[in-house]
Amino acid sequence: MDKWLGLKGRACVVTGAASGIGAQIAQSLAEAGARVALLDRDGDGATALAAQIAAAGGEAKAFECDVSQEASVLQATDAVAQQFGTVWGVVNNAGFLRSASLQDVSLADWNAVLAVNLTGYLLVGRALARHMPEGGSVVNVASIAANFPQSHSGAYSASKAGVVQMSRQMAVEWGAQGIRCNVICPGLIRTALSAAFYAVPGVEAKRAAMTASKRVGEPADIANTALFLLSPRSAYVNGTEIDVDGGMPAMLMDMVPRPGYNC
Ligand code: NAI
Repeated sequence: MDKWLGLKGRACVVTGAASGIGAQIAQSLAEAGARVALLDRDGDGATALAAQIAAAGGEAKAFECDVSQEASVLQATDAVAQQFGTVWGVVNNAGFLRSASLQDVSLADWNAVLAVNLTGYLLVGRALARHMPEGGSVVNVASIAANFPQSHSGAYSASKAGVVQMSRQMAVEWGAQGIRCNVICPGLIRTALSAAFYAVPGVEAKRAAMTASKRVGEPADIANTALFLLSPRSAYVNGTEIDVDGGMPAMLMDMVPRPGYNC
């Protein structure tokens, strides 16, 4: 598998790497032989995971970074370039959710979500694209919410829709440099971000029933897709969106009440 992916020895940066999907992507990259830079505002969490990866024989370094702050991003990405040299791959993944209706969301929360989930991807992406060689790959983690808005999710759906379009723009602008950019739209994935939902009895079974695959997703489902998009194996996949959601949108007609069949 390491050989097939061709990521051995290549430096890859993952944001939001201290937890959930980012942590799994970092671990899977290290298992594939990549040298991994873990960026997170939770510096202790990133340091602990880097130590865990190193103990398992991988190569990883942690960098404390708030992706919404340009100075913090420039400091961290300069440090990455100094310690890792040429950066092959970037996974923009750091994100969070502040729940509220559009009528009620405070301007501070709206701006905070956009600053991390959308502007953070721009700041990290463009700072590192400068250090990337021909063949390099940027992978942006959006959400199923980019295409299917969820009420009471504040700026989250809008931020993720922005990521999808900005990813296409990165592909178009950076294509001449030989850098690709694609976006992953995860569906329902069990992580710290969503743990509170799954702690409520019955929620997991109901969510699983809404997918064609009849299960909620795991961080590894996203990590496997991210590694493919970072790998030269996906060399001609560019400016596109891969949904990793167990076929949830395909369930729409199956959810329509139909007497004699489902009600
Ligand atoms: P998580 O909460 O487990 O991990 C997010 C990580 O991002 C944390 O380590 C956190 O410290 C870091 N982070 C947050 N703000 C940051 C900032 N300003 N600067 C640097 N790091 C920051 O969340 P999860 O579930 O792993 O989410 C990862 C990505 O996947 C997010 O972009 C999220 O929107 C997306 N996603 C998650 C889904 C889910 O069901 N869990 C579904 C669809 C998308």
